[in-house]
Amino acid sequence: MATILLAGGAGYIGSHTAVELLNAGYDVVAADNFSNSSPESIRRVEEITGKPVKLYEADIRDNAKLAQIFRENSIDAVIHFAGLKAVGESVAKPLKYYRNNIDTTLSLLETMQEAGVRNIIFSSSATVYGEENPVPYLETMQRGVCTNPYGWTKAMMEQIFEDAAKADPMLSVILLRYFNPIGAHPSGRIGEDPLGIPNNLMPYVTQVAVGKREFLTIFGNDYPTKDGTCMRDYIHVVDLAKGHVKAVAYVLGHSGTEVFNLGTGTPYSVNDIVNTFERVNGVKVAHVYGDRRAGDLPEFYANADKAAALLDWKTEKTLEDMCRDAWNWQKQNPDGYRNPD
Ligand code: NAD
Ligand code: UFG
Repeated sequence: MATILLAGGAGYIGSHTAVELLNAGYDVVAADNFSNSSPESIRRVEEITGKPVKLYEADIRDNAKLAQIFRENSIDAVIHFAGLKAVGESVAKPLKYYRNNIDTTLSLLETMQEAGVRNIIFSSSATVYGEENPVPYLETMQRGVCTNPYGWTKAMMEQIFEDAAKADPMLSVILLRYFNPIGAHPSGRIGEDPLGIPNNLMPYVTQVAVGKREFLTIFGNDYPTKDGTCMRDYIHVVDLAKGHVKAVAYVLGHSGTEVFNLGTGTPYSVNDIVNTFERVNGVKVAHVYGDRRAGDLPEFYANADKAAALLDWKTEKTLEDMCRDAWNWQKQNPDGYRNPD
């Protein structure tokens, strides 16, 4: 079976993908600088699967270190998760985001070329559709005007991959545009572990429910949606991880660039999330309605037909599963991977 290098593999989506790849019989090598994660996640991946992961502490911008990883392992494909992802921070510190996100991509492509590794899957985002495209988003739409530097790094990296694949006919690239990943592995052993105040909805909800934060502020209830709150395409992180397993099979037998949306195709509102979370978990999520957050779009969701047709992938988990598994992780790990058992 093939060996897959997960750049940024100790993070939220990388660790869940590691579990699904190992379960599918792939060997996994992970490299991470732990700027937003901990080696504990990979230890728990090994615990869940009963299989080893070779873990490197490495900055993905370090070409010499990457060359060493490619020398020491026979890598068939790379999945590039390594990046900074906080939208608000990217507005305050754009250079940090451009430096980290673009350089990781360039270093991977350069060292892969030297090592003769031809297959790469990239963690892109629905944010590259920008503000103007109509919903649901389709892969054939042009990338749009992004609302923040984080989004621009994704759009720029997509362009870099496309240009690299045009110049090298042996290169096989898959750009996966994630919608809104939430939830956790059903074991409750791995999950999302934000540092500091969470930027994203679900970790905020779980931290309110567990008593770490007083209340959730719902950003706006005057949008033109069914209940006035924003609508998003929330996807269970385990479904998302399984999409990567399908993408690995595809990228190994392909050349050129292919783009896939990974979403469910069904949007839910912020109120839906709060109400479902309270109902399935039997807990209260104190909340107030506040002002709109700058840059938020009223609604976006995927057309997920292409991934169904070409990757033979579709989501299986419900919103209830997402809320239950997110809470199970938070309850078992109130401090995330800090203070591990
Ligand atoms: P995460 O922060 O949990 O994982 C990213 C990992 O990359 C972390 O472990 C971090 O330590 C590592 N990393 C960052 N810079 C690095 C560097 N220079 N060298 C080595 N390691 C580095 O985030 P995630 O939610 O797992 O996201 C994974 C990828 O998916 C990111 O590229 C993110 O932008 C993208 N994405 C995430 C979402 C989401 O909502 N979670 C949505 C769309 C796209
Ligand atoms: N929200 C709240 N209160 C909070 C946090 C979020 O009401 O405390 C709302 C937001 O206004 C939004 C929804 O919950 O309507 C989801 O917000 P998230 O921050 O969880 O997710 P976003 O849709 O804003 O962002 C996601 C990814 C980004 C990506 C962006 C656009 O996290 O990586 O989609 O594709 F850039």
